Amino acid sequence: MTKVAIVTGATGGIGEKFIQRISLMDDIEEVWAVGRSREKLERLKASCPKVMTVEADIGEDGIDIIEELIKQVSPDIRMLINNAGVAYMGDFEKMTEDKIRSFCKVNCSAPSELMAICLPYMHEGSKILNISSASSFQPNPYLSMYSASKAYLKNLSRALNVELKNRKITVTSVCPYWVDTGMLPRERDGKKINYPGMVSTDLVVDKALKDSSKGKDMSVPGFFAQYFRIYSKITPTSIVMKQWVAGIRKYL
Ligand SMILES: NC(=O)c1ccc[n+]([C@@H]2O[C@H](COP(=O)([O-])OP(=O)(O)OC[C@H]3O[C@@H](n4cnc5c(N)ncnc54)[C@H](OP(=O)(O)O)[C@@H]3O)[C@@H](O)[C@H]2O)c1
Repeated sequence: MTKVAIVTGATGGIGEKFIQRISLMDDIEEVWAVGRSREKLERLKASCPKVMTVEADIGEDGIDIIEELIKQVSPDIRMLINNAGVAYMGDFEKMTEDKIRSFCKVNCSAPSELMAICLPYMHEGSKILNISSASSFQPNPYLSMYSASKAYLKNLSRALNVELKNRKITVTSVCPYWVDTGMLPRERDGKKINYPGMVSTDLVVDKALKDSSKGKDMSVPGFFAQYFRIYSKITPTSIVMKQWVAGIRKYL
């Protein structure tokens, strides 16, 4: 059985970094890089020989494509990284039903379905990493669907880490604050956007892999995210939300 790691959102900042790191691991023979853009996937394959490209849109029928492939190959899945995600900042009322549906699919149902599909092919020591966010620590007005979806993924991950203890499979929820990737717009209506405490993809991925190897259910990279985790626990949620809105108001 081929020892495989599966990474969704492989063509973006954090996903691409995971691919680079995992490709160096001796116990992984193939890295399945899941993405929508054939061109970006081919570029990734050219730089990492262990990469096998899987062209799939997980907001559409992508999960079925991955499931079919898994059934055909019957791999030993050593690692699953649910990294693909979408964000939307603005009024909830401006989101169309289609946008809401596809948002929930990419950020919530796709990672849940993928875990269910992969688990029968995982064994003792296999690892799942779900990329949540520090936005999961409290509700974020004007980033409402995103913070809610990330809270879903974090809570699911932590619960499954307990459920899967008897199989010695770990589930780690990765919760960064701002990360320097293409997901973050650099300006809005001509105004430059500041991201306090922004960290690199190297920091996020190295810490996530370390925490996962220790069997931790949470990985919170960087001082800012760690501080914010504690702050949002001890401060009334209404105050945390008010401060958040005050900080982003100028960009809305
Ligand atoms: N950047 C941050 O500040 C930050 C902070 C906390 C958590 N996160 C989380 O980290 C994860 C990775 O984000 P990133 O910052 O690396 O952003 P990114 O560079 O925009 O990468 C997002 C990845 O998700 C993929 N994706 C989006 N929709 C998809 C779909 N329907 N089907 C398949 N793939 C899809 C994108 O593929 P395409 O190339 O095809 O678009 C891309 O590879 C996300 O879950 C995000 O929520 C990010």
